[in-house]
Amino acid sequence: MIIDPWGSQKYEYEKLFENFGIERFEERLWKDLPNPPFFFRRKIVFGHRGFDIIKNAIKKRLPWTILTGLMPSGKMHFGHKIVIDQVIYYQSIGADIHIAVADIEAFATRGYSLKDAKKIAIDEYILNYIALGLKPCRIYFQSKNEDVKDLAYIMAKKSNLSQVFAIYGFKGSTNMAHVFAPFIQAGDILHVQMDKYGGLRPTLVPVGVDQDPHIRFCRDLADAHRLYSIVPQNERIGIFVKGDENVKELLDNAEEIVNKYGELIERKDDYKAIYAKINNLFIIDYELAKIERKFDGFGFLLPSSTYHRFISGLDGNKMSSSRPQYAIFLTDENEEIKRKIWAAKTGGAVSAEEQRKYGGKPEDCIIYEIFTYGIIEDDKELSEIYNDCKSGKLLCGQCKKLAYELISNFVQELKEGREEAKEKIKEYVEY
Ligand code: TRP
Ligand code: SF4
Repeated sequence: MIIDPWGSQKYEYEKLFENFGIERFEERLWKDLPNPPFFFRRKIVFGHRGFDIIKNAIKKRLPWTILTGLMPSGKMHFGHKIVIDQVIYYQSIGADIHIAVADIEAFATRGYSLKDAKKIAIDEYILNYIALGLKPCRIYFQSKNEDVKDLAYIMAKKSNLSQVFAIYGFKGSTNMAHVFAPFIQAGDILHVQMDKYGGLRPTLVPVGVDQDPHIRFCRDLADAHRLYSIVPQNERIGIFVKGDENVKELLDNAEEIVNKYGELIERKDDYKAIYAKINNLFIIDYELAKIERKFDGFGFLLPSSTYHRFISGLDGNKMSSSRPQYAIFLTDENEEIKRKIWAAKTGGAVSAEEQRKYGGKPEDCIIYEIFTYGIIEDDKELSEIYNDCKSGKLLCGQCKKLAYELISNFVQELKEGREEAKEKIKEYVEY
């Protein structure tokens, strides 16, 4: 079983924990964050890798950063909104924001020219991001950033064909630009830790779960380029120097760090190892990465990620711009919105009479799902709808009318926001 980032599969979210080692995004991770937003409270963000390091940074007021990307293909629909909701939240609690426009990936995997990709990125995505409330930040194009491309190429040295075949299921006929796309994405994710872009600090990549292969791959690449490996062993940790260069100096430096932040147990030069008692792994990891940079290493911290669930299309399958009749686009006109909502799959009974008697099923209802994805932010209001649906008090006609009103208002406001955004775009985009 593989996850295909370029495919359109539906996910059984439960299986992802076991099969891929994605961790559950438990309440303990978000409940102390300022004003927990709806995507946490409603478990739309359901999985993660390494979020603890981000939580630690937030708690201790250390710098941390967000890097995510957009694929400039098709139009922006409601399913795409959830990433930017998260970015806006993280920006409000102090992260610096970097957004990659994946124009190289769109070229390599979807057949767009770089020129078309640029136009789509701006008109469809970036203007909407600003209209949605994103404050000035850094948005760049993969094809225009030399550091991203250099990193991709240089880091590729420690990967090979077998590895990318195994992760992505590439075939012999896969074009090589496509094969290289995950390296570019790793360049995206890691370059923000270069001094020029803010330096060494924890990086969070909020994405849909289809992107997990890229995250795993990028974490492996970052790890492969570390000069130390840090291995927790029950009560203690082992710090090992990986290569054969500067072994003594690297051990000296590590010993100093260990003495500062923990307790040295043993140093074994012939094993290239130091064993220590440490209670804060994040600090050790960070301090060792810093040392690596003095010895010409990249010293990248493994990037962290979160994964959100995909919103369903109006027929119950995945929402996708390739099936426009079942997606609500942020640029849809009122008439289209009305038509689409009226045709949407609900959890209603076969007749109004039956529904009054037996109630509806909000958990099987696309209208209700759209409400949960932020169209209704207030939990109390949402749970009233849930209860009134269950009890048969609320009928689908009323509910769809409410959905139409909320969505068309929302879309109308965005439209105005996009006009204003046109003037502000220079504060965001790096050409
Ligand atoms: N592959 C992502 C997509 O299909 C786009 C992307 C490019 C990205 N670089 C990234 C996402 C870096 C997160 C981080 O949507
Ligand atoms: Fe869905 Fe509303 Fe109908 Fe319930 S009443 S099934 S929530 S549309």
